[in-house]
Amino acid sequence: MNRYSFRDTDPAEVRLALLAKAFEPEMRGLLAKLPARRIRLALDLGCGPGFTTRLLKDVVQPHRVVGVDVSGGYVRSARARFPDLEFVEHDVTRTPFPIESPDFIVARFLLAHLSDPEGILGAWANEMAPRGLIGVAEVEFIKTEHPVFTTYLSVVERLIADSGGALYLGPRLDAADPKKLRRVSSEVYRAPVATGDAAKMFSLNLSVWRSDRFVVDNYETSFLDILARRLEQLQAQTCRDEIEWGIRHIVYQRVD
Ligand SMILES: C[S@@+](CC[C@H](N)C(=O)[O-])C[C@H]1O[C@@H](n2cnc3c(N)ncnc32)[C@H](O)[C@@H]1O
Repeated sequence: MNRYSFRDTDPAEVRLALLAKAFEPEMRGLLAKLPARRIRLALDLGCGPGFTTRLLKDVVQPHRVVGVDVSGGYVRSARARFPDLEFVEHDVTRTPFPIESPDFIVARFLLAHLSDPEGILGAWANEMAPRGLIGVAEVEFIKTEHPVFTTYLSVVERLIADSGGALYLGPRLDAADPKKLRRVSSEVYRAPVATGDAAKMFSLNLSVWRSDRFVVDNYETSFLDILARRLEQLQAQTCRDEIEWGIRHIVYQRVD
């Protein structure tokens, strides 16, 4: 399993709560791309503290929904936060899954942290019910000219690459042809985010990953202190034209 450099500490969870809010319209956009059909069992892979699982349940209304995450801490927190939903601890790079034959799998911002995402998609296809659907959301681009944001993103890109993943996985997934899956749709959803909200998420994330071995070995403490201070200074800013995410949404269907 890859190391997940964004970890599962308290600030990491607060960041995911902010991310859930900022990217709720984006997640709804992904779920809206599903072909209309009744879903019996849906899995939210890499569910974190459960925000995406909640949205999946409310929007798609599957008969049963289960959030799956490798972090025991996130699974405990998700169970406490959403007691009406089901969560299990599992490494999604390992099959078989503990829950059999889902007819829908969603995975947002997870494959970016795993090596061989194309192979993993093929393995997930094997776990699905016939004609089952998979919806994935991964970063295509983050458009910004703000020097604090570009500096932050250059570190994160290298950090994720060091753990075997790819921050900008969208273009690679769009070009891939995973086994046993037919592509139903592939589009980029554009999500402008307020400068202050982006700065808050980035500040929290920096406080989490700055102790990562790769970061400690490659960046001076003074550089990280300055970056943290600059991000903090941006947190009150409300303009929405300084940073925009492009998120690749791909829906696949299992074929045999
Ligand atoms: C960036 S978060 C995304 C959380 C959620 N999907 C969302 O969109 O808000 C990535 C999540 O994937 C989980 N994760 C990382 N590697 C995993 C693995 N091998 N198996 C299961 N979960 C994993 C992490 O613990 C974390 O909760």
